[in-house]
Amino acid sequence: MEGKIGMWPAFEWLGDSIKIIDQRYLPEKEEYIILKTHEEVAKAIENMAIRGAPAIGVVASYGIALGMLNLSLNDKLDDKFYEICKRLESTRPTARNLFWAIERLKKKFEESRKVPLDELKKILIKEACKIEKEDVELNRKISAYGSSLIEDGDRILTHCNAGALATSGIGTALGIIKKAFQDGKEISVFIDETRPFLQGARLSTWELLKEKIPVTLITDNMAGWLMNKGEIDLVIVGADRIASNGDIANKIGTYSLSILAKENKIPFYVAAPHSTIDLSIRNGKQIPIEERSPDEVLSILKGVESFTELKIRNPAFDVTPNKYITAIITDKGIIRAPYKNNLRKISPLFP
Ligand code: MRU
Repeated sequence: MEGKIGMWPAFEWLGDSIKIIDQRYLPEKEEYIILKTHEEVAKAIENMAIRGAPAIGVVASYGIALGMLNLSLNDKLDDKFYEICKRLESTRPTARNLFWAIERLKKKFEESRKVPLDELKKILIKEACKIEKEDVELNRKISAYGSSLIEDGDRILTHCNAGALATSGIGTALGIIKKAFQDGKEISVFIDETRPFLQGARLSTWELLKEKIPVTLITDNMAGWLMNKGEIDLVIVGADRIASNGDIANKIGTYSLSILAKENKIPFYVAAPHSTIDLSIRNGKQIPIEERSPDEVLSILKGVESFTELKIRNPAFDVTPNKYITAIITDKGIIRAPYKNNLRKISPLFP
């Protein structure tokens, strides 16, 4: 799984299983696990061993392929196929890419339903591989478009992890940063810790340090002050779902950053492939927001678990209204307001 420049593969298809780097333990341990069944894939998505919108889409499509490879003689083909899809769809509700990838596998299944079973399995594996390959290319295009917005000397703030660990390629928001650095721009990066799962502190720092990109870690509540002091030139984040009006869901904390950026007259960019766009919903209010276990919030708070009457909330994402977004950087170009018209132009249901 040795990476190319800017790419540290989060997962690898092995023909009859998937190898993933377990992101729960980074950067302390680089531990790999092999997933052999669709149920193991579903659990790895739920428990965040693998995470990030594009990555969970691709891995779920391999999960479907694994489910079909493991069919037993008694299984009814249609029933089993849709049961596997349903299980994988139930893992995480917010990222559009998960449902988009599963819809592609369903389409292939329906088109190829009548071919011999061995052939059908090969067709599904091929489609999952195709989705992965395309994702690499989408990342490359997003990075090239986004890099054109970055200038020498820029100090960039990012949130969560929208890098190689969250995709099949170089990443989206982090892909842009890596590309600008590879192009010789002298940039530096501020990364929010991203409580409670610490994707920024644990994963984005890990990726950027591997690339030798200057990076400074801050806690989530420091961003406003640094913006106010003129220490941040632009913000780039990823997205889990983009509504047709350009509202976006991304990791919890993104909404606050967008308002802070507007208040401080700092450009706020969102980077995502077209597979993140959901034209079936009108605005961000319709995006399902995942609420995760309170244990994640408690994980770094020694002793607090003994407060038995303490209530804890853990929404994993929030919605940033389009009015705070300077532009959305996609694989089809840089999209600006009016988002409703401009997103529709670039967003076919399938590639
Ligand atoms: O809960 P996570 O870690 O899956 O959330 C990830 C994010 O919010 C990313 O910014 C988003 O998925 C884009 S990844 C290219």
